[in-house]
Amino acid sequence: MYKVLMVAGARPNFMKIAPIIREIEMREGGADYVLVHTGQHYDEAMSDVFFREFDIPTPNYHLNVGSGSHAHQTAKIMMEFEPVCIHEKPDCVLVVGDVNSTLACAIVAKKLNLQLAHVEAGLRSGDMSMPEEVNRLVTDSITDHFFVTEPSGVENLISEGKDPSTIHHVGHVMIDNLFHELSKPDASTEHSLPQDYGVVTLHRPSNVDHDDVLRDIVSALVSISDKIPLVFPAHPRTKAALQRINIELPSTITLLEPLGYREFLTIWRKARIVLTDSGGLQEETTALGVPCLTLRENTERPVTISNGSNKLVGRNTKLIYESALEILEGKTTKYSTPELWDGHAATRILDVLIDKS
Ligand code: UD1
Repeated sequence: MYKVLMVAGARPNFMKIAPIIREIEMREGGADYVLVHTGQHYDEAMSDVFFREFDIPTPNYHLNVGSGSHAHQTAKIMMEFEPVCIHEKPDCVLVVGDVNSTLACAIVAKKLNLQLAHVEAGLRSGDMSMPEEVNRLVTDSITDHFFVTEPSGVENLISEGKDPSTIHHVGHVMIDNLFHELSKPDASTEHSLPQDYGVVTLHRPSNVDHDDVLRDIVSALVSISDKIPLVFPAHPRTKAALQRINIELPSTITLLEPLGYREFLTIWRKARIVLTDSGGLQEETTALGVPCLTLRENTERPVTISNGSNKLVGRNTKLIYESALEILEGKTTKYSTPELWDGHAATRILDVLIDKS
């Protein structure tokens, strides 16, 4: 039977592997999988909660690598992942997204001459100061099967000289997962929410690791919160950064611990506005037509702007505030769901992989 060795390591990976696992299990034969958790993320709120919510089985291997500098973390994952590949001898190693676990496991697989599949291939921000951009470029330079979420990904891979027969525009497994979770009743939340509110998430090093940048962003958020209260679940990195700059947030901004997927979905999908620097949330808000402002200078997911409800506002306090006001005044453009974001991307991926075997 065709054997896929699947890798997950950090929070944004878990919602991408869940639909692929569901698809393999539904087929009852045709493919088998082995699941590896690198342990890049390890807290209950950053990892375990997603395994429970999405019914992801306990990983066959847990590499327990934990946090560290990029070199340290990447090297540790590589060292721990190599013996797993040698022992399991998979037909294919499948990596998702653009985190350090994606890069580390891709390199190990290819050096062992294994077939490599990359889900969410071809995205490019053009911003080499983003660790994820380096991870995307290196991973795609050695990938055999490219699974692409949006037209820009296909264009980027073609312009980089990749063989078109290896590029598969399949849609987005994270949107498969979103629809799957939306079919369940809303999750309960212990947080009392106002009738109308906005949601904020921030975690990019370029936003939270520089005090001046973070102060400017917080100042824009404080002004927006005069118009609409904001709910702000904070990544551990962000929580530490907010403590470092020592700004007292007004009562109109509610800071929360990181939330599980279902509770967060219940909250953001009813928000009047989302302000974020997350890649995934730009796409999920597009899928549901929730207005989104992205606090970055660029995006590797341009379909969220051309088709979706996303707008880039950078870190410019005035632009962030004025763009938020426009949304709150109802001045939004028409959105449409990107092509193939229909809940069936995992089916298409498995069809390709099994067909190639
Ligand atoms: C990583 C990904 C990023 C992704 C983000 C989602 C890379 C290069 N970056 O960034 O693309 O958008 O995950 O969250 O792979 N920490 C905890 N508990 C945890 C995990 C981390 O407290 O379970 C803290 C540690 O202090 C750690 C810091 O968060 O040093 C950063 O974690 P790390 O995985 O290195 O990067 P993220 O910022 O989470």
